[in-house]
Amino acid sequence: MVKNTEVNLSTVARDLKKNPSDAVVIGVGQGTDGPVLLDNPLTAKSAEALGDSLKALGVTGAADQLVRLPGLPETGAGILVLAGVGKVPATGPLTGESLRRAAGSAVRQLAGLATVTLAFPTATVQDVTAVAEGAALGAYSFTEFRSSSDGLKDPVRNAVIFTELAGTPELEAALKRAGLVAKAVNATRSLVNTPPSHLYPESFAEAAKDLAKGLPVKVTVWDEKRLEKEGFGGIMGVGKGSTRQPRLVKVEYSPAKATAKVALVGKGITFDTGGISLKPALNMGDMKSDMAGAAVVLNTVLALAGLGLPVKATAWLCIAENMPGGGASRPADVLTMFGGKTVEVLNTDAEGRLVMADGIVAASREYPDAIIDVATLTGAQLIALGNRTAGVMGSDSVTGALKAAADRAGELVWPMPLPEELRPTLDSQVADLANIGERHGGMMTAAVFLREFVGKDKAGEQIPWAHIDIAGPSFNNGSPYGYTHKQGTGCTVRTLVAYVEDILAAA
Ligand code: BES
Ligand code: MN
Ligand code: ZN
Repeated sequence: MVKNTEVNLSTVARDLKKNPSDAVVIGVGQGTDGPVLLDNPLTAKSAEALGDSLKALGVTGAADQLVRLPGLPETGAGILVLAGVGKVPATGPLTGESLRRAAGSAVRQLAGLATVTLAFPTATVQDVTAVAEGAALGAYSFTEFRSSSDGLKDPVRNAVIFTELAGTPELEAALKRAGLVAKAVNATRSLVNTPPSHLYPESFAEAAKDLAKGLPVKVTVWDEKRLEKEGFGGIMGVGKGSTRQPRLVKVEYSPAKATAKVALVGKGITFDTGGISLKPALNMGDMKSDMAGAAVVLNTVLALAGLGLPVKATAWLCIAENMPGGGASRPADVLTMFGGKTVEVLNTDAEGRLVMADGIVAASREYPDAIIDVATLTGAQLIALGNRTAGVMGSDSVTGALKAAADRAGELVWPMPLPEELRPTLDSQVADLANIGERHGGMMTAAVFLREFVGKDKAGEQIPWAHIDIAGPSFNNGSPYGYTHKQGTGCTVRTLVAYVEDILAAA
């Protein structure tokens, strides 16, 4: 179901004329005194002339600015492209994320060309990796549901990175990683972009099996009969209103030499109408993205397997369609979750926490070192942090490591507290818990609800756990920017891969 084409990544150290391409991209930064042409492969004479005419050409160096000029003979390309990288620090190197965005934006906007050479300043392997990731993330399109390719431009096929570091073995490994991580992000985007007519619980489970083909992972699918029999009351309770039956999918990567064990739980609501507590019509279509968390955890585990990292990683995809059918859960219904806790459903639109509770209990039973759950859980996340920054809550050890990993990966996450006074707001008159509580700070209320389902380790302590709310950043309903396209963004795959790399390095 998910058919993405991948960009070919390669590097070249010198002599662009011998490596012809359709366009050579050079970076321009926003300096304090106007635009500055960044380090580039042009002759000193050309570079000086070009640098002097930047202002006259209207080149500012602002992020996402792309100016096309005729090619210079020395670059072996028909066009020379000036790409804005945004503000440049007075001293010191550019951040990896500014390189990633600039490369991504250029490749995204140059769709239609086959081969593009990217000549940004790259002092370290990390810099090259950032350019490579940006390029692979920019070279994305989603055309599966178009009947004709008229007027559509194919994404760039080959990205050639101009760097002095070309050819080192270290760089080859880094490029392989960049390609694999970008592939996981792009597959996440495509699952999110797939319409709910085509992506529903059963087909999502099939897509997970498909994507896992050829990788050393085991995929187990719970159908509705097994879910019912084993007592997954949250997933079943949410799925009951739909003719499409829910699924739980477990994706396990378990290499022999694992030195750490993590569980990832993802919200997989293939469409969220709100159920009987029906959502308003405006932008309801965006709720096809309510399975982004499950797509993220699936593709993260597949990336970890592809990279061959020594970690035991298990993804739990909690998949259901939240519909207001005759069989749907009603406000005031009580569900018995996996593990036995009861929940009064006071609002059927707070369904994500119900399916996630089952997944978190199931994950806890395997005693992982840490549980991280990822979910498009609350509109309150958008109110609190806007549409680009994910909220992270939970055990300090895990939230701190996730923040550090996100910084390294170039993604925006921000830690939020779990104030104790929120817990009693989830008390129910009839069950162990209600599924809604304090409305203000609702992102945190939802996390406090999830915390009730995190199990204990063998010593009786709560398993280290973090919850990432990606309601806003998982779906871009505005204009594209940097390497971010419209609709599914694939956010937090990069953070989770970086998190695992970090804990393995520390182990
Ligand atoms: N899937 C939504 C959250 C959401 C909102 C994601 C906007 C992306 C964009 C979730 O299931 C939901 O409806 N949450 C409710 C919870 C409320 C009823 C406590 C919400 O945020 O309004
Ligand atoms: Mn909802
Ligand atoms: Zn939802």
